[in-house]
Amino acid sequence: MGGDELDLVRETFESNWIAPLGPQVDAFEREFAATVEVPHAAALSSGTAGLHLALELIGVARGDTVVCPTLTFSATANAITYVGAEPVFVDSNHATWNLDPELLREEFETAARSGTQHAAVIAVDLYGQCADYGRIVDVCEEYGVPLIEDAAEGLGATCDGRPAGGFGRCGVFSFNGNKIITTSGGGMLVADDEELVARARYLATQARDPAPHYQHSAIGYNYRMSNVLAAIGRGQLRVLDDRVTARRTNFDHYRRALGDLPGVEFMPEAPYGRCTRWLTCLTIDPGVAGVTREDIRLALEDEDIEARPVWKPMHLQPVFQGCRVRGGDVASRLFDHGLCLPSGSSLTEEDRNRVIGVFRGRFGD
Ligand SMILES: Cc1ncc(COP(=O)(O)O)c(C=O)c1O
Repeated sequence: MGGDELDLVRETFESNWIAPLGPQVDAFEREFAATVEVPHAAALSSGTAGLHLALELIGVARGDTVVCPTLTFSATANAITYVGAEPVFVDSNHATWNLDPELLREEFETAARSGTQHAAVIAVDLYGQCADYGRIVDVCEEYGVPLIEDAAEGLGATCDGRPAGGFGRCGVFSFNGNKIITTSGGGMLVADDEELVARARYLATQARDPAPHYQHSAIGYNYRMSNVLAAIGRGQLRVLDDRVTARRTNFDHYRRALGDLPGVEFMPEAPYGRCTRWLTCLTIDPGVAGVTREDIRLALEDEDIEARPVWKPMHLQPVFQGCRVRGGDVASRLFDHGLCLPSGSSLTEEDRNRVIGVFRGRFGD
């Protein structure tokens, strides 16, 4: 937590707005929209809820196909199945680790040749780095496919000088406990289109029609954010810049201390934007390094230090077996050799030095 959260929560208690609506929710939406430079925002119970609503609002329905990167957290692909659609996985570009725009174009071209069209694309801002929107937006416009930005991991990042979240018809953020700022759990859907965001709020509030009695003309969800958690979110938003600085400091320290090791490569920062380094990620080429990613992970685990492999690609997940995939080798390689180091905003130099010591020790230093 930063400094103001507890005061804002106290204010909430004093106002007695302990509900999934209230002045803190309204203020958090306004302040968040201003931060990400998108005019409208709806505060939700999770990022996953935001993805589900975004797909429904765009009109994705049963039998449709939706493209997303294979290298992502399962929530991206799960949401596609919630509306009865089928995910189509596309590989990463090795220089950004994000959705490869050229493969996306090929996928659209193949669909067009067979007289079909994908209903939407969800691009993901992986590990704090925006996808290549300069190219992805053009490809989506050329083929008339709506774009959703899954910015759950991207808050605070930029692409071509613009903040993450504003590149698609909808952008979705997460405030889960592990994110760069948190409300313990929560999400936000943002869009330029005021009506679309109003509809998101309506669906997220059990689709209650404007009537004095309880009337419903659509199936709704219980997806709104609590006023108490919105108070935490407002306090967290005030320290977002500090959090980005802390994450980038982690990354810079690790890279300075480990970048000389043979076969170790850090996740590249794409030239079009600023990565928050939400997590510090690297790959270890065992042929050059003489040790595997798993050797390092286990050596850290022995010292009670948690490090995790890079996301296991969706096309390798048992639950998505049989789904279409275009490419996949880049993501598979990143999974086989990739490691996420401890990256919390509260890590001290001493903490990082402990990680670095174990890491170098496994290399025989
Ligand atoms: C890429 C990505 N999309 C979606 C989500 C889902 O967000 P939430 O946990 O708030 O539902 C997460 C993280 O949890 C994520 O990393």
